[in-house]
Amino acid sequence: MQEGKVTQCIGEPTEPTNIVIFGAGGDLTKRKLIPALVKMLRCGLLHTDCKIIGVLKGRTREVWLEALHQGINQYAPELPMDAQQWQEFTTRFKMVSGDLESDQTYLDLSEALESLEGRTNAMFYCAIPPNWYTTVAAGLHKQGLALETEGFRRVVIEKPFGMDLETARQLNHDLQELLNESQIYRIDHYLGKESVQNLLVYRFANSILEPLWNRNFIDHIQISAAESIGIEYRANYYEKSGALRDMIQSHLMQVMTLVAMEPPVEFTADAVRDEKIKVLRAVRQIETSSVPHQTVAAQYGSGTVNDEKTKAYVAEDGVSPDSVSETFAAVRLHIDNWRWQGVPFILWTGKRLPKRVSEIVIRFRKPPFNLFDTHANPPIANSLVFRLHPDEGIFLRMNAKMPGLTTDTKRMVMRAPYSEDGADVSDAYEVLLHDVLTGDATLFSRADEVEKSWSIIEPILNAWKDRISVVRYRAGTWDIPEMDALFENCVGGWHKPS
Ligand SMILES: NC(=O)c1ccc[n+]([C@@H]2O[C@H](COP(=O)([O-])OP(=O)(O)OC[C@H]3O[C@@H](n4cnc5c(N)ncnc54)[C@H](OP(=O)(O)O)[C@@H]3O)[C@@H](O)[C@H]2O)c1
Repeated sequence: MQEGKVTQCIGEPTEPTNIVIFGAGGDLTKRKLIPALVKMLRCGLLHTDCKIIGVLKGRTREVWLEALHQGINQYAPELPMDAQQWQEFTTRFKMVSGDLESDQTYLDLSEALESLEGRTNAMFYCAIPPNWYTTVAAGLHKQGLALETEGFRRVVIEKPFGMDLETARQLNHDLQELLNESQIYRIDHYLGKESVQNLLVYRFANSILEPLWNRNFIDHIQISAAESIGIEYRANYYEKSGALRDMIQSHLMQVMTLVAMEPPVEFTADAVRDEKIKVLRAVRQIETSSVPHQTVAAQYGSGTVNDEKTKAYVAEDGVSPDSVSETFAAVRLHIDNWRWQGVPFILWTGKRLPKRVSEIVIRFRKPPFNLFDTHANPPIANSLVFRLHPDEGIFLRMNAKMPGLTTDTKRMVMRAPYSEDGADVSDAYEVLLHDVLTGDATLFSRADEVEKSWSIIEPILNAWKDRISVVRYRAGTWDIPEMDALFENCVGGWHKPS
């Protein structure tokens, strides 16, 4: 295959593997999985002997492949493929047509895999609605397709892993009846972002940060994911989920564990995940009576975002006009351990905000004595900002002297972009698919982590479930005054990304 303009990727090449995608006719496959596999193949990370077996229903092979080809052009324009290149690429595709419910589908899949001699490894990617995960695992189990007698057999599932603690426990229990925990890869695409992994390198490959990384120097930490888009076509999911479940229970809490964890003894999946779960175990249980003080729930009204007039959440297609689902959620958590006692962790996320940006803000304590406070521009508390998206990198906000015959201070930002030379930043799905194929589960959630993070937000879900109203904010603004109360006693208050 032609090299294209993809820059080289660094990493261990995979073994020959059969890559089975359930839901191969769906959006995730077209938008993320196939572009990631094409890119991995082009840069030598995917073994040329890997085959892709799509399980789908109701389409011919031609229609399916044409949709995937369009997906490459639409979602990965940096990977252009002309008809001949595409034709060559598709020689590694097989299609199994059938319903996920039908035993015949798994029989056909078994035959398709048997016909691909010489490859005993298999990855089964569930790009399907979560209510089908157990059915697929049962189908694989019944046909003996999950048995690791020769090569590996790994099953990848996408969040949500349950909708509350009870359903998460049930899902874990059902899957663990059919598969070993080591075979289950619960993907959190946030952890596949290179900038998130870079956080670990910044923390544990440098000696200047770690001495500051505790309650003695840090006032509070903010972990955020702001989006300017609305719910798009996801009303059905969002009405049931809301921002707390959609973003905080999963992505932001996972990032929090990486920020707060102790150094692992080695960089292996279980050593890292053992440290992450200790953080979750140390999160102080939220009392029902504290929910109003420790959380904010809000919903976007109409407004203007990126110079375009946008409608209110309740006017979106598929949303009930009296819906009180939150499109903005914030939670103030405390980690009761030696390192973080007294340091609030504030996790917040929202849709239809002024811009799309995801950050970790480490806000330091004020200097103990301020020499310059009498002047017009009082110094700010220092912040170390890890920008996860877009423009990945770190910024250090400092105070500097204003030029001239004065000791007035001004704000100065030291910027260190993650990729200075325009080098390729891998898409999260490339990173995570590569990790599954090479058996590195470090960035995937273990069953105990999933259950613990649900148990942390369970009191909030319980308190919110009977609410009859929700705070409204104007789309395209940060106008949520309730956030000021959430940041009570936090130096510098709410950091609204600029
Ligand atoms: N799309 C994304 O960017 C994205 C990002 C993160 C996570 N996810 C997660 O990835 C999963 C898939 O999402 P998606 O956006 O790709 O959804 P989607 O476009 O609805 O695709 C799901 C696929 O599953 C197939 N399917 C459903 N029931 C089936 C059945 N009984 N038998 C056979 N096939 C069946 C559907 O087939 P039909 O087309 O024939 O209905 C469809 O092709 C979800 O868990 C989602 O939360 C998606």
